[in-house]
Amino acid sequence: VLELATVVCQMHVRLLRRFDLPIAAELVRQLGYDVHPSEMAERIGLVLVNDTHYAAVADNGETVLGLVHAYTRPALEKAFEVVVQSLVVDCQARKSGIGKLLMAAAESWARSKGAKHVVLHTRVDRNDARAFYERIGYTTIATSHLMSKSIVAS
Ligand SMILES: CC(C)(COP(=O)(O)OP(=O)(O)OC[C@H]1O[C@@H](n2cnc3c(N)ncnc32)[C@H](O)[C@@H]1OP(=O)(O)O)[C@@H](O)C(=O)NCCC(=O)NCCS
Repeated sequence: VLELATVVCQMHVRLLRRFDLPIAAELVRQLGYDVHPSEMAERIGLVLVNDTHYAAVADNGETVLGLVHAYTRPALEKAFEVVVQSLVVDCQARKSGIGKLLMAAAESWARSKGAKHVVLHTRVDRNDARAFYERIGYTTIATSHLMSKSIVAS
């Protein structure tokens, strides 16, 4: 318990920087997506230049142990809200409060942007993630099909 408490005490959340690329790629890999470093550099660049996006990491002073990415989503049919696009904590550091810390940071950013709600999609087979989100106050409000179409000319 003392060890876990120490881990969280020393942890701080800071904005993602370009030099975080290797660890960001590793965390995204743990989330289930293998992204080539050059592609990851491009994605980080797109997120960082856009002030409607928030990307932050949990850093213990020596290493990065978690990542969150959220963005604002204005809509016509419902009030403006913030969407959490991705959240991942290093597999060696889970269940020590880091996920909660990163979500608190994203919620604080959402509040600063004037949002009244934070929403997120979680895959139906990610039972652990759903239990975590419920634990920190999120409830399932809908289920939906995620549809996609390639628009690249063949
Ligand atoms: C889901 C995830 C981000 C949670 O981060 P974490 O750092 O392990 O979670 P925390 O330690 O901050 O947990 C916060 C609370 O949720 C609880 N919790 C965490 N995981 C849980 C689980 N699987 N089942 C039940 N409760 C859980 C913790 O016990 C804690 O409760 P407490 O406040 O009463 O102590 C992390 O497990 C992860 O990266 N998983 C893989 C990637 C993933 O699924 N991401 C989400 C994609 S939508």
